[in-house]
Amino acid sequence: MAIKRNQNPNPQPKKQERLTNTKKNQVQDNLEESIRPHSFDEYIGQKDLKDVLSIVIEAAKTRNEPIDHLLLYGPPGLGKTTISLILASQMEVNCKITAAPALERPRDITGLLVNLKPGDILFIDEIHRLNRLTEELLYPAMEDYRLDITIGKGQAARTRSIPLPKFTLVGATTKVGALTSPLRDRFGLIQRLKFYEPEELALIIQRTAKLLNTSITEPGSLEIGRRSRGTPRIANRLLRRVRDYIQVKKFESITQELAAEALDIYQVDPQGLDWTDRLILETMIKQFNGGPVGLEAIAAATGEDAKTIEEVYEPYLLQIGYLNRTPRGRVVTAIAYQHLGKTTEEQLSIFNEE
Ligand code: ADE
Repeated sequence: MAIKRNQNPNPQPKKQERLTNTKKNQVQDNLEESIRPHSFDEYIGQKDLKDVLSIVIEAAKTRNEPIDHLLLYGPPGLGKTTISLILASQMEVNCKITAAPALERPRDITGLLVNLKPGDILFIDEIHRLNRLTEELLYPAMEDYRLDITIGKGQAARTRSIPLPKFTLVGATTKVGALTSPLRDRFGLIQRLKFYEPEELALIIQRTAKLLNTSITEPGSLEIGRRSRGTPRIANRLLRRVRDYIQVKKFESITQELAAEALDIYQVDPQGLDWTDRLILETMIKQFNGGPVGLEAIAAATGEDAKTIEEVYEPYLLQIGYLNRTPRGRVVTAIAYQHLGKTTEEQLSIFNEE
């Protein structure tokens, strides 16, 4: 089935439908929507991924076919949903957005699939959390654009196949290793999103500041960029906090000094570590001599959820070399000791006490 094309140089997505919105995250979502880039030209960073996707899009358009199923993985907040929306925009198709926890019953996924139009993108966030039944419904849907449903129970059960339009599944996950291999193997493209450099984050912050009508100096944007844990979502959140600060203090523009002052108040340190990062590292040092220690023990000792530690906090601590993962557990590194103002002697004395 062909996808319609026209010559619009700046295409917009036909329709973007988020199917998992709750009132609680609506306000945050609206803010994120208003600053989201709509094309790869506006999208800063992830150059390798953009290069790959640009080729894929052009090839698919030339063949009048949907793009291959795409699996995006990497830490949260790096732009997986945004990439999916830009893909839809470039292909001039709809993008339906959902998340695995919203696909509990088989009819949740079948309802979505039968309503897709040719070429549409179905975006499933946290795809590693799909239950077995839903996942098994996806196999023939992805491979042969076919839905196999069972009608009736026991002896009277019959299977029926319903043809589906050709569509693209974009799966997003923070844990690619948690996907089953049959599901992973059905993606034609598997791409990782990387943490952003502080300079890239500074550009994102300057772009967002413009959209928010906030004045910011280049060093100001870099100061926020350095403290954003390589993550645009955090960069934009910190920018809003610094904007509050200069508004209350009646300053005109975000300078480096003001950004640092504000973020110190919010307890985001010059490396971007927040209160929870420091709690994790300090607990590992105080209670477990810096490790090796298992994830569950860290979770119990800090009162944080193990999944949140593993998927949200740990990736950045690993990236900046503050934490190591060994077969016997997590270990705090010497540079983390230094950053926390603990000398290596302290670290050594702990080992010597053993
Ligand atoms: N806002 C959030 N992520 C962005 C990105 N990668 N480029 C531009 N603006 C963004």
